[in-house]
Amino acid sequence: MTTELIEFNDLSELSAAVARDVAEFVNNVVASKGVFYLALSGGNTPRPLYHILGTTYRESIPWKSVHIFFCDERFVPHESPMSNFQMVRETLLDLISIPKGNVHPFPTTGLKMEDAAREYETQLRRFFTDGADTFDLIVLGVGKDGHTASLFPGSPVLDEKEKWVAGVEVDGVPPRRITLTYPILNHAARVYFLVSGSEKSDATKTLLQSTVDYHSCPSAGVHPEAGRLIWWVDRAALRA
Ligand code: 6PG
Repeated sequence: MTTELIEFNDLSELSAAVARDVAEFVNNVVASKGVFYLALSGGNTPRPLYHILGTTYRESIPWKSVHIFFCDERFVPHESPMSNFQMVRETLLDLISIPKGNVHPFPTTGLKMEDAAREYETQLRRFFTDGADTFDLIVLGVGKDGHTASLFPGSPVLDEKEKWVAGVEVDGVPPRRITLTYPILNHAARVYFLVSGSEKSDATKTLLQSTVDYHSCPSAGVHPEAGRLIWWVDRAALRA
């Protein structure tokens, strides 16, 4: 695994650069294998990125060949303002022409959270049969406490070795969530962390120490075994 860190003046520069990179990467991967598997996070940081992808790159990304999955989800209906799917729908999906069958939100209604997690894992295993394929790109954020996706400090899910998807109770609002786990996150071809703002500087400093324990800072547990890990960070998140 190689880790890279790229610094920007602010979130808007960072988002433009990531969007440019994603557009080029998707085009290259689709040209070689015909499909691109992308997993997206919620939160505020990636909103401008999604919007740029849905406007500037609306025509130049081959969206029909892209499958969009989610890194985590609040266990609320998709229409809820707390839903990550809803945020991605507003900032990206409503702007592009992508087949409905290429978009894979977590099921969040009509079944128990554990069953929803199991059902999502079954879907993923259909795409990534026997590890023959994997996510081309996973976009993650970092919380002030070092969490990523819905992998929070001290959670038992941090030691999950088999399941790719788990239902979790977290110290956040809302507490019930579904999340991808390290076994699938660490199989990605690429993982991009997007980190912006001075309130993230403590987490960033902790993460940059090589000795950090993923139990206290879960973002540190993400290191794709055979992939690239790129940190896209703005100045405030590095130095404040
Ligand atoms: C979510 C996320 C979560 C997020 C971080 C950072 O559902 O909120 O997937 O892990 O990436 O909390 O969020 P911000 O970008 O809003 O700081």
